[in-house]
Amino acid sequence: MEKTALITGGTDGIGRATAIELSKRGYSVHLLGINERRGNQLLDHLNLLYPDGDHRLFITDLSKKKEVNNFLDSYIREFKKLDVLVLNAGIFPKKTILSYDGIDKSFSIGFVSRYMFSVKLNRLLSRSSIAKVVHINGSVVGSIRYTQLEVPTYGKMTSVWQNSVASALLVNYWDRLSGGNVTHTHWNPGIVNTDTVKSQGIVVRYLSKLMGMIEPERAGEMLAIHIDGNNSSDTTSKFFVKGRPQKVKKRIENGDKELNELIDFSEQFTRVKLSQI
Ligand SMILES: NC(=O)c1ccc[n+]([C@@H]2O[C@H](COP(=O)([O-])OP(=O)(O)OC[C@H]3O[C@@H](n4cnc5c(N)ncnc54)[C@H](OP(=O)(O)O)[C@@H]3O)[C@@H](O)[C@H]2O)c1
Repeated sequence: MEKTALITGGTDGIGRATAIELSKRGYSVHLLGINERRGNQLLDHLNLLYPDGDHRLFITDLSKKKEVNNFLDSYIREFKKLDVLVLNAGIFPKKTILSYDGIDKSFSIGFVSRYMFSVKLNRLLSRSSIAKVVHINGSVVGSIRYTQLEVPTYGKMTSVWQNSVASALLVNYWDRLSGGNVTHTHWNPGIVNTDTVKSQGIVVRYLSKLMGMIEPERAGEMLAIHIDGNNSSDTTSKFFVKGRPQKVKKRIENGDKELNELIDFSEQFTRVKLSQI
């Protein structure tokens, strides 16, 4: 069976390692990133080692709504089915910065684009018997600061945590929102030794090591095992930390009000409506 995985942020770090592991398992891998040189190097590597796959590279800036929309429309025109979508791209800047569209850039890439991908690619995914979407995130902490998104005065941890909270709401309620067969999971890999960590100060790097930081290759392998379904891990859970299934947090489980707020914001900001599913 031909299997295809689209990986956002597939050109570096955890996404890159996952791309290599999925190619090894027989997937055609569609990489999405912004660094063309890095992307082409990885594409050459995949074509050399796993030539049976029809690997592709897409250069798209996920912080720009218009670019995301254009990419998704052309992807839907070109491909009729998608088996796996890994929503991995994310940034961790030293301090919060604004996107081209005028909101916290981390939220644009780490959640807004993920919402657009989830809605617009749902039909392609629903044609697959695998039909999996995995959101790569950190801890589910805090809340989404809608009123501050345009003037993000909060810290960088709040910025990444709110992406994780937003993804968790989408993951938990996707069955209800879509009414279909596409399953979403929330995957926290733990601390991974990518540029995200390497660019931090010595103290953070030292603490990361003490806290059991793993290499990207190991993170990619664990994720590929989860995606490819050849493991015994709990298949009913939607939340995983370091590969282990977790109970859904109470505030996400009872998050109807937060979900409505999130969908209202996402529909208004992107003009991509859930009814397009
Ligand atoms: N590392 C950790 O400890 C850790 C822990 C928990 C969760 N996470 C999450 O895991 C994900 C991946 O993190 P990582 O550490 O692997 O990061 P990374 O090594 O910095 O890789 C980030 C990837 O995202 C892509 N990207 C960045 N901005 C983009 C944009 N505007 N448009 C399209 N693609 C863009 C990059 O593309 P280019 O290569 O083309 O620049 C790269 O492929 C993130 O969502 C992060 O929050 C990481």
